[in-house]
Amino acid sequence: MEQSLVRKEVLPFLLLFGSLLLATLVIDVLLHRFALVGIGRWLGIPGTMLILLSFLYSLRKRKMIGFGKPKTLLNLHETLTWLGALMVLVHAGVHSYTILPWLALAAMLVNVVSGMTGKFLLDRSRRFLSEKREAYAAQGISGEEIEKRLFWDATAFDLMKQWRTVHLPITLAFGVLVIAHVFSILLFWQWK
Ligand code: HEM
Repeated sequence: MEQSLVRKEVLPFLLLFGSLLLATLVIDVLLHRFALVGIGRWLGIPGTMLILLSFLYSLRKRKMIGFGKPKTLLNLHETLTWLGALMVLVHAGVHSYTILPWLALAAMLVNVVSGMTGKFLLDRSRRFLSEKREAYAAQGISGEEIEKRLFWDATAFDLMKQWRTVHLPITLAFGVLVIAHVFSILLFWQWK
């Protein structure tokens, strides 16, 4: 059990987060090497766009849009936030000395870590449910009864619900900080 926790949750989590940090480092080194640091400054914009685009999943879930398969959109959410966060991290590597951008960056990292935790919680509850389904079927329990039991088993995954109450407010805090950061940039923009 403990071994499978490490193999199925902890390692994939570390890989997903570690690859984000490693990719940031590699791109940052390359930009410096080829004297392209100026590009990093602009990467904040496409990065934020990708993160905003990833909210298609949320719109679909809350029935504000009708197109797209939820599962595909969730995969898209995970991929776009990873890529968007990568761009924002490289952008942040172009060092700033004011506090606001760092706060926004910290909120984004907390958001990303919380997202990745949620992803593995969700995978875990899916695995748990499909194992249960098979076990009930093997016991010869009828389809309708299986669904009823699975409903209660699913509520055992309250953990997922609790996680949501963390991921959503973090997103809100991140959003407010990003808006404040963008406003302050526009305010102090040097039009020359
Ligand atoms: C910039 C970073 C991120 C932001 C701002 C963000 C924002 C959100 C929001 C607002 C939701 C709620 C959707 C809703 O209930 O309407 C959500 C759900 C979710 N996010 Fe993220 N997220 C980020 C990063 C990630 C990452 C990196 C992953 C995983 C690799 C991830 C995985 C998930 C999962 C699994 C759900 C839950 C699905 C559900 O409960 O329906 N998120 N995210």
